[in-house]
Amino acid sequence: RLHDTEAPQFCGGMEGLSAALKGCARCPLAGPATQAVPGEGPERAALMIVGEQPGDQEDLAGRPFVGPAGQLFDRLAAEAGLDRQAAYVTNAVKHFKFEVRGKRRIHQSPSASEVSHCRWWLEQEIALVQPRLILALGASAALALTGDGKGITRRRGRVETGLHGGPVFLSLHPAALLRQPDERLARRQEDLFRHDLSQVTEML
Ligand code: URA
Repeated sequence: RLHDTEAPQFCGGMEGLSAALKGCARCPLAGPATQAVPGEGPERAALMIVGEQPGDQEDLAGRPFVGPAGQLFDRLAAEAGLDRQAAYVTNAVKHFKFEVRGKRRIHQSPSASEVSHCRWWLEQEIALVQPRLILALGASAALALTGDGKGITRRRGRVETGLHGGPVFLSLHPAALLRQPDERLARRQEDLFRHDLSQVTEML
């Protein structure tokens, strides 16, 4: 079940919510991570952008989408005329999940139950921001927002109704573009992604 617990409303708006999130120990991912990474952006943004979870750099900086995937997102968003600064940017899961290999921390995708458990925070962010449109980047965000965990390749470019009752535009995750070893496919995915972002811009 995606709605496992009734989420309380925090006092103090987004600041109160982010402060409460800093102390989150609702699941074992909090232990090894440096810190919980709250969303950022205008509290009443028309667009909310939801990624999967903080990566290595986001975990250290305490800010979403500042690493390689975030930089790629920023470049493609700018090319598509989408202003990231005007959006509220957050993640489906608030702590970095990783495996240590030597000196490196390797990203691990969150499980469906981790995504579901962390929805508790996402629900409250949605309630505060009340975005007109939510952009889901990748399968974990799509699962968190729609309750449907089916693969993103066939669903991208579409608008589905979110569990919150509003529209969710589904797209790829920028990290998937970075991981694509086939140059030609990577360029094709980049075009699709840019196309999705300009659709979102038009919908706002
Ligand atoms: N990938 C995400 O999904 N979110 C981030 O914040 C960084 C990378």
